[in-house]
This record gives sequence, structure tokens and C-alpha cells, in this order.
Amino acid sequence: MDSTTSFQTVWQELVDNAGGAADVCRGVGEVANYIPALRDVEPDQFGITVANLDGQVVSYGEANCRFSIQSLSKIFLLTQGCKTWGEEIWRRVGQFPSSNPFNSIIELELEHGIPRNPFLNSGALAIADGLFSRHVNMESSIITLVRELSGSPDLGYNRTVADSEFRCAERNIAAAYLMKSYGNFYNPVADVVRSYCAVCAIEASCTELARSSLFLANQGTCPRTGNTIVSRRTAQQICTLMLTTGTYEHSGKTAFTIGLPTKSGVGGGIMAVIPDKGTICAWSPRLDSTGNSVRAMAALENISAAACLSIFG
Ligand code: DON
Repeated sequence: MDSTTSFQTVWQELVDNAGGAADVCRGVGEVANYIPALRDVEPDQFGITVANLDGQVVSYGEANCRFSIQSLSKIFLLTQGCKTWGEEIWRRVGQFPSSNPFNSIIELELEHGIPRNPFLNSGALAIADGLFSRHVNMESSIITLVRELSGSPDLGYNRTVADSEFRCAERNIAAAYLMKSYGNFYNPVADVVRSYCAVCAIEASCTELARSSLFLANQGTCPRTGNTIVSRRTAQQICTLMLTTGTYEHSGKTAFTIGLPTKSGVGGGIMAVIPDKGTICAWSPRLDSTGNSVRAMAALENISAAACLSIFG
């Protein structure tokens, strides 16, 4: 992914092929319908962007169309959590995979209010609560971070989507109260969940998200600004958790088929990190039963196999 010409030529063909290959999954899966405002999204949109550390990008499809990032925001929550709390954050949330869905609360009860990992809803809520204690406006701190990382100052969140999610946030509210009962949640539940819903409702495009995650491929430093976002060790840890837990109960399969640190969201986006090289973001709204985009996953599988991207060689 080095010189401009060869990057553009080689990777444009790869993303075009991945987009074409993912077409076979067109119409497969359902859009997230538990958040009413997400039901109306046009389900067969598709986009993919690859970005390299020089900031060059190649795209296919609707890669500049903004969509609801949902759980992709958990990358930015975790990043901000690590920046704010350092290693202390791991007192609030674990580093273990889970075979239960992203919104499950079964293990939370069994494990005394400590979420298994930061990418489960409960884990992200524990981090949101920690950030809420330190930032006057939690959602603004995350939006500012995503704006800085993407270089898009006009990024923001969709209030209609945030309000819609908050109105049916019973499971997230239950998780927060359960954590509170174990002493792992400090702020008013409704305030934190409302702020968490706003962060999930941030809208960004494949290209903006590919750019936003480049610091993870670049040992913690944003290549666009040269700013250290997190330490090399923290970037490593975030990538490890993406590999082992980023696509929930599908994570083992994702590691097997794609072999990259990967994070999904129910808006249909999937971000992948190619360590020391670049990032990929693919998006299509129809999801499988684990909440991962069918077509984005197919595109990532195709491009990983075609370009031998797996971190396992
Ligand atoms: O809390 C929720 O349920 C959503 N705001 C985010 C869930 C999500 O994106 C899971 N990802 N696949």
C-alpha cells in the first residue's frame, strides 16, 4: 500500500472485485428493526473504502453515504475510555469473548456486573458511565474525537435515531441497573443511556470511518495529524479485542475467514484494521442473525483472501 499509483491501481481493482463478489448476497438478511428509526433505511445500499497510512483511499459503491455507526462507536468509546482512564478501565470491563448476543445480560448477572468485554452493549455502557463522570458532555467528547480522526468537522449524530433508540432502550437500561446493583455504574442510568444512544447515532461514511480508524493501524498515532491518540500498547489491545470480540458470537468465524481485527455495528458497517498498512470499512444495511452485515462481511472476506490480508500470514 505504498506508492500512490500502485496503491490506486492495485486496490481499486481489489475493492471493485470485493463489491462485485458481495453482490451475490444482495437481498439477504434484514435491516436492524429493534431501533424503529433504522427500519426505513434503503436496505440494498453498499459501499466499501480502503485507506492507507498515507491517507490515500479507494472506494466502491456508496462509500461516501453516511450511515448510523451504532456499535462502531464502541471503538471510539473504548479509545476515549483508555485515554481518560488508562489501565484502570479494565477494572470496569473484561477482555473475554462471549458466545451471547451483543445485548445479552445473562453473563452480567453471573459475573457480578463486570461486562465480558467493551464491545458488548453492557461493556460500552460501563465505559460510557466512566466517561460521563469525567466529561461535561460525553457525546460531544466522542464526536470531537471522530471529527479529529476523520478530518470531517461536520460529522454529528442523528437526533431522531438517538431518540428512537432511547425510547426502546429497555435492555440497555436493564444492563445499566444490573451493573449499578453491583457497584459498577455511578451516574444516573437514563442520562448515560441517552448519551450512549447519541454516540451510537453518529453518522459517518465508509471513507470517513476508514480514515477514523487509521490510528489503530498506525500504532496509536493518527497518520493525518501526527497526534498520538493512544499508546502503541493500547492500540494493540484494542485491535486484539476487535479480533476476539468485535463481531460478537461471530468473532471466531470472522477471525477464521477474514483474519483481521474487525468491528461491526447494526447500522450495517464493519471496520477492519490491517496492522501497519491501513484500514477497510464496508457497509450494507442487511444483517445476519448475529447483527453483522451480510454483504459487508462477504466483501471483507473476498478482499482479505484476494490480497492475503490475514494477520496470520
Ligand atoms: O445498543 C444497541 O443495541 C445499539 N445502539 C448498538 C448495537 C450494535 O450495533 C451491535 N452491533 N452489531
